[in-house]
Amino acid sequence: MPKLTFCGHSCALVESSACNVIIDPFLTGNPTASHQPEDIPPLAAVLLTHGHGDHVGDGIHLAKRNRATVVATYELATYCESEGCEAISMNVGGAADLSFGRVKLVQAWHSSSFQVGDRFIYMGMPTGILYSVEGKTLYHLGDTGLFSDLELIGKWNGPIDVALIPIGDHYTMGIDEAVEASRLVGAKTVVPIHYNTFPPIECDPTEFADKVAKAGGKAVVLKPGESMEY
Ligand code: NI
Ligand code: MN
Repeated sequence: MPKLTFCGHSCALVESSACNVIIDPFLTGNPTASHQPEDIPPLAAVLLTHGHGDHVGDGIHLAKRNRATVVATYELATYCESEGCEAISMNVGGAADLSFGRVKLVQAWHSSSFQVGDRFIYMGMPTGILYSVEGKTLYHLGDTGLFSDLELIGKWNGPIDVALIPIGDHYTMGIDEAVEASRLVGAKTVVPIHYNTFPPIECDPTEFADKVAKAGGKAVVLKPGESMEY
Protein backbone atom coordinates (compact mmCIF):
# COMPACT_ATOMS: atom_id res chain seq x y z
CA MET A 1 0.00 0.00 0.00
CA PRO A 2 1.41 3.41 -0.87
CA LYS A 3 1.72 5.90 1.97
CA LEU A 4 0.71 9.53 1.46
CA THR A 5 2.21 12.18 3.72
CA PHE A 6 0.81 15.72 3.56
CA CYS A 7 3.75 18.09 4.05
CA GLY A 8 1.68 21.32 4.14
CA HIS A 9 0.11 23.55 1.45
CA SER A 10 -0.05 21.34 -1.69
CA CYS A 11 2.94 19.12 -1.03
CA ALA A 12 2.38 15.36 -1.05
CA LEU A 13 5.02 12.73 -0.44
CA VAL A 14 4.12 9.26 -1.74
CA GLU A 15 6.20 6.38 -0.41
CA SER A 16 5.77 2.90 -1.89
CA SER A 17 7.76 -0.32 -1.68
CA ALA A 18 9.45 0.58 -4.97
CA CYS A 19 10.32 4.25 -4.52
CA ASN A 20 9.39 7.67 -3.21
CA VAL A 21 7.86 10.48 -5.22
CA ILE A 22 7.02 14.03 -4.17
CA ILE A 23 4.42 16.36 -5.68
CA ASP A 24 4.66 20.18 -5.48
CA PRO A 25 7.40 20.35 -2.80
CA PHE A 26 6.98 23.90 -1.49
CA LEU A 27 8.87 23.58 1.82
CA THR A 28 11.35 26.46 2.17
CA GLY A 29 9.37 29.60 3.00
CA ASN A 30 6.17 27.65 3.61
CA PRO A 31 4.98 28.59 7.12
CA THR A 32 2.97 25.34 7.42
CA ALA A 33 5.62 22.94 6.07
CA SER A 34 6.12 19.84 8.19
CA HIS A 35 9.39 18.98 6.48
CA GLN A 36 12.45 20.85 5.36
CA PRO A 37 14.15 19.67 2.15
CA GLU A 38 16.77 17.75 4.15
CA ASP A 39 14.01 15.76 5.91
CA ILE A 40 12.68 14.32 2.64
CA PRO A 41 13.69 10.68 2.00
CA PRO A 42 15.48 9.70 -1.24
CA LEU A 43 13.28 10.48 -4.23
CA ALA A 44 12.85 8.89 -7.65
CA ALA A 45 10.73 11.71 -9.02
CA VAL A 46 9.46 15.24 -8.46
CA LEU A 47 6.05 15.81 -10.03
CA LEU A 48 5.03 19.45 -10.59
CA THR A 49 1.46 20.57 -11.33
CA HIS A 50 2.40 24.06 -12.54
CA GLY A 51 5.05 26.75 -12.40
CA HIS A 52 3.96 28.89 -9.45
CA GLY A 53 6.48 29.28 -6.65
CA ASP A 54 4.20 27.68 -4.05
CA HIS A 55 4.29 24.46 -6.14
CA VAL A 56 7.72 24.29 -7.77
CA GLY A 57 9.13 25.31 -4.38
CA ASP A 58 12.20 23.20 -3.60
CA GLY A 59 11.54 20.93 -6.58
CA ILE A 60 14.62 21.84 -8.60
CA HIS A 61 16.90 21.53 -5.57
CA LEU A 62 15.37 18.19 -4.51
CA ALA A 63 15.51 16.78 -8.05
CA LYS A 64 19.18 17.67 -8.43
CA ARG A 65 20.13 16.43 -4.96
CA ASN A 66 18.39 13.07 -5.48
CA ARG A 67 19.08 12.75 -9.22
CA ALA A 68 15.31 12.45 -9.34
CA THR A 69 13.33 12.98 -12.52
CA VAL A 70 11.08 16.03 -12.80
CA VAL A 71 7.80 15.34 -14.58
CA ALA A 72 5.75 18.33 -15.73
CA THR A 73 4.35 20.05 -18.80
CA TYR A 74 6.77 20.64 -21.66
CA GLU A 75 7.52 24.26 -20.75
CA LEU A 76 8.05 23.65 -17.03
CA ALA A 77 10.04 20.44 -17.55
CA THR A 78 12.27 22.16 -20.08
CA TYR A 79 12.83 25.05 -17.67
CA CYS A 80 13.86 22.56 -14.95
CA GLU A 81 16.24 20.92 -17.43
CA SER A 82 17.81 24.29 -18.11
CA GLU A 83 18.41 24.53 -14.34
CA GLY A 84 20.28 21.22 -14.36
CA CYS A 85 17.53 18.67 -13.65
CA GLU A 86 16.71 15.43 -15.39
CA ALA A 87 13.17 15.93 -16.68
CA ILE A 88 10.43 14.24 -18.63
CA SER A 89 8.07 16.60 -20.40
CA MET A 90 4.46 15.67 -20.92
CA ASN A 91 1.24 17.54 -21.60
CA VAL A 92 -2.44 17.60 -20.79
CA GLY A 93 -4.23 14.32 -21.49
CA GLY A 94 -1.09 12.23 -21.83
CA ALA A 95 -0.01 9.33 -19.65
CA ALA A 96 3.35 7.59 -19.39
CA ASP A 97 4.46 4.39 -17.68
CA LEU A 98 7.72 5.36 -15.99
CA SER A 99 10.15 3.47 -13.76
CA PHE A 100 8.52 5.02 -10.67
CA GLY A 101 4.89 4.52 -11.72
CA ARG A 102 2.32 5.79 -14.16
CA VAL A 103 1.88 9.55 -14.50
CA LYS A 104 -0.93 11.30 -16.33
CA LEU A 105 -1.39 15.05 -16.63
CA VAL A 106 -4.93 16.39 -16.81
CA GLN A 107 -6.36 19.86 -17.10
CA ALA A 108 -6.73 22.34 -14.27
CA TRP A 109 -8.36 25.78 -14.53
CA HIS A 110 -5.66 28.12 -13.30
CA SER A 111 -2.56 29.87 -14.69
CA SER A 112 1.07 28.83 -14.82
CA SER A 113 4.19 30.94 -14.86
CA PHE A 114 7.49 31.16 -13.04
CA GLN A 115 8.51 34.49 -11.60
CA VAL A 116 12.09 35.68 -12.00
CA GLY A 117 12.44 39.15 -10.47
CA ASP A 118 9.54 41.18 -11.85
CA ARG A 119 9.19 39.03 -14.98
CA PHE A 120 6.96 36.05 -15.56
CA ILE A 121 8.15 33.16 -17.69
CA TYR A 122 5.30 31.23 -19.33
CA MET A 123 5.19 27.66 -18.02
CA GLY A 124 2.55 26.05 -20.20
CA MET A 125 -0.81 24.82 -19.01
CA PRO A 126 -1.44 24.20 -15.31
CA THR A 127 -2.32 20.58 -14.60
CA GLY A 128 -3.65 18.04 -12.21
CA ILE A 129 -1.57 14.88 -11.82
CA LEU A 130 -2.73 11.27 -11.65
CA TYR A 131 -0.03 9.09 -10.14
CA SER A 132 -0.46 5.31 -10.01
CA VAL A 133 1.85 2.95 -8.13
CA GLU A 134 1.28 -0.48 -6.55
CA GLY A 135 -2.10 -0.66 -8.26
CA LYS A 136 -3.39 2.49 -6.51
CA THR A 137 -4.17 5.83 -8.06
CA LEU A 138 -3.73 9.23 -6.43
CA TYR A 139 -5.16 12.34 -8.11
CA HIS A 140 -3.58 15.68 -7.13
CA LEU A 141 -5.87 18.33 -8.58
CA GLY A 142 -3.18 21.04 -8.53
CA ASP A 143 -4.60 24.56 -8.29
CA THR A 144 -7.97 24.75 -9.98
CA GLY A 145 -11.44 26.16 -9.99
CA LEU A 146 -14.43 23.86 -10.25
CA PHE A 147 -15.14 22.37 -13.68
CA SER A 148 -17.54 19.68 -14.79
CA ASP A 149 -14.93 17.58 -16.61
CA LEU A 150 -13.67 16.48 -13.19
CA GLU A 151 -16.41 13.85 -13.53
CA LEU A 152 -14.97 12.69 -16.86
CA ILE A 153 -11.46 12.55 -15.39
CA GLY A 154 -12.73 10.51 -12.45
CA LYS A 155 -14.67 8.12 -14.67
CA TRP A 156 -11.96 7.67 -17.25
CA ASN A 157 -9.08 7.18 -14.81
CA GLY A 158 -10.89 5.51 -11.94
CA PRO A 159 -11.07 3.96 -9.55
CA ILE A 160 -9.27 6.83 -7.86
CA ASP A 161 -8.14 5.81 -4.40
CA VAL A 162 -7.33 9.24 -3.03
CA ALA A 163 -7.80 12.76 -4.39
CA LEU A 164 -6.05 15.87 -3.08
CA ILE A 165 -8.39 18.81 -3.53
CA PRO A 166 -7.67 22.53 -3.01
CA ILE A 167 -10.22 24.18 -0.69
CA GLY A 168 -8.68 27.53 0.30
CA ASP A 169 -10.64 29.81 -2.07
CA HIS A 170 -9.14 33.06 -3.48
CA TYR A 171 -6.64 31.33 -5.85
CA THR A 172 -8.56 28.06 -6.25
CA MET A 173 -12.03 26.79 -5.51
CA GLY A 174 -13.37 27.21 -2.00
CA ILE A 175 -14.99 24.71 0.34
CA ASP A 176 -18.43 24.36 -1.25
CA GLU A 177 -17.04 23.99 -4.75
CA ALA A 178 -14.44 21.54 -3.46
CA VAL A 179 -17.27 19.44 -1.99
CA GLU A 180 -18.86 19.34 -5.44
CA ALA A 181 -15.45 18.55 -7.00
CA SER A 182 -15.14 15.62 -4.57
CA ARG A 183 -18.51 14.30 -5.73
CA LEU A 184 -17.58 14.68 -9.40
CA VAL A 185 -14.18 12.97 -9.07
CA GLY A 186 -15.66 10.11 -7.07
CA ALA A 187 -12.45 9.19 -5.24
CA LYS A 188 -12.70 6.73 -2.34
CA THR A 189 -11.09 9.33 -0.05
CA VAL A 190 -10.47 13.05 -0.51
CA VAL A 191 -7.83 15.07 1.32
CA PRO A 192 -8.04 18.89 1.47
CA ILE A 193 -4.99 20.89 0.43
CA HIS A 194 -4.05 24.53 -0.36
CA TYR A 195 -5.49 26.20 2.77
CA ASN A 196 -4.25 28.04 5.87
CA THR A 197 -0.78 28.66 4.44
CA PHE A 198 -1.39 32.40 4.01
CA PRO A 199 -4.20 34.72 5.23
CA PRO A 200 -6.14 34.82 1.91
CA ILE A 201 -6.62 31.04 1.96
CA GLU A 202 -7.57 30.57 5.61
CA CYS A 203 -10.51 28.24 6.14
CA ASP A 204 -11.66 25.35 8.31
CA PRO A 205 -10.88 21.95 6.75
CA THR A 206 -13.28 20.21 9.14
CA GLU A 207 -16.13 22.17 7.53
CA PHE A 208 -15.05 20.65 4.21
CA ALA A 209 -14.82 17.15 5.71
CA ASP A 210 -18.27 17.46 7.32
CA LYS A 211 -19.85 18.64 4.08
CA VAL A 212 -18.20 15.83 2.08
CA ALA A 213 -19.53 13.30 4.62
CA LYS A 214 -23.02 14.85 4.38
CA ALA A 215 -22.84 14.43 0.60
CA GLY A 216 -22.02 10.73 1.05
CA GLY A 217 -18.25 10.90 0.56
CA LYS A 218 -15.23 10.43 2.78
CA ALA A 219 -12.71 13.16 3.55
CA VAL A 220 -9.62 12.79 5.71
CA VAL A 221 -8.01 15.97 7.06
CA LEU A 222 -4.27 15.43 7.37
CA LYS A 223 -2.33 17.93 9.46
CA PRO A 224 1.05 18.80 7.94
CA GLY A 225 3.31 15.82 8.68
CA GLU A 226 0.45 13.32 8.99
CA SER A 227 0.23 10.24 6.78
CA MET A 228 -2.31 7.74 5.54
CA GLU A 229 -2.05 4.51 3.59
CA TYR A 230 -4.37 4.16 0.63
NI1 NI B 1 -0.94 28.37 -8.52
MN1 MN C 1 -0.97 27.58 -5.41
